[in-house]
Amino acid sequence: MPTKPAAKAPADERIEVTLEDLPGVGGTTADKLREAGFTDLMELAVASPGAVAEAADIGLAIAQKIIGEARRRADVGGFESGTMLLERRKKLGRISTNTKSLDELLGGGVETQAITEFAGEFGTGKTQLAHQLAVDVQLPAEQGGLQGEVVYIDTESTFRPERIVDMAKAVGLVPEEALGRIHVARAFNSNHQMLLVAKAQELAREKPVRLLVVDSLTAHFRSEYVGRAELAPRQQLLNKHLHELLRFADTYNAAVVVTNQVSARPDILFGDPTRPIGGNIVAHAATYRLYLRKSKPPRRIARLIDSPNLPEGEAVYSLTTEGVRD
Ligand code: GTP
Ligand code: MG
Repeated sequence: MPTKPAAKAPADERIEVTLEDLPGVGGTTADKLREAGFTDLMELAVASPGAVAEAADIGLAIAQKIIGEARRRADVGGFESGTMLLERRKKLGRISTNTKSLDELLGGGVETQAITEFAGEFGTGKTQLAHQLAVDVQLPAEQGGLQGEVVYIDTESTFRPERIVDMAKAVGLVPEEALGRIHVARAFNSNHQMLLVAKAQELAREKPVRLLVVDSLTAHFRSEYVGRAELAPRQQLLNKHLHELLRFADTYNAAVVVTNQVSARPDILFGDPTRPIGGNIVAHAATYRLYLRKSKPPRRIARLIDSPNLPEGEAVYSLTTEGVRD
């Protein structure tokens, strides 16, 4: 198999794929497939014939044919050479958090082509950080941004345009323009939340989306799937969600920022009695995890945990009316 550059997708040269290009897929079938979550060729390429047949109301044989064709045409990736990976990593962008300390901790800011998780108790500044990044990503490179737009998936109704106005003014952006570049969607449940990632892809094909926020990643999953028996399906869906997010990050060279609350660990007597929700699934999918905790107000402390290439460390930041500051 020839090696192809898998995610050759900086903001301006993206992979264009439509289901309608596949033989045997008309408009109605394509719509049904999309509705069932098969939003692009890749989804189809890795789907089971049964699932596709059911989703599109078609026979197994046709489903198989569609999948086969999707596999041929989708950039299924396969192997990438080290040179290619290095090329891709050269396109990495970084978004400043507006604080020296957090930027340093993150090796220069929040990275594109990766998922960064802010985990912590209520009031530690997860949402404020998400707002701050939604403003900063719009700035030119010299000021720590990527001149990008934002998709903001809000699951707890905590997005506040007023905060964006304050923060935008503080960094010299025109508030109305800054708000116009942030595309907010409220997710009503976990299914809706996952669907919105597919919608975000549509948007990212038209606009230079360089940041996707999910605040909170886990709240819906946590409240909908309760009890031990529900744990496995919950983790499975969360895993799927995270993979879709990671793919978004790769395809659009965007930063994905997710927030996560922590839950109490009744089994821990010494040390920190809390841990991020979602367990190993989230831990493995997130490239950078920042664990936030409160300090003397307005200060907060962030600790970087299990990063692939950065030393563990801590940073102190403050939450102010102008935004997140040193
Ligand atoms: P949960 O979503 O509840 O888990 O919390 P969170 O981690 O998202 O906390 P959030 O980012 O909402 O932080 C809330 C804190 O930010 C408040 O307690 C304030 O300290 C600070 N904050 C929020 N808005 C303002 C503001 O307009 N001015 C100032 N000075 N501080 C603010
Ligand atoms: Mg919050």
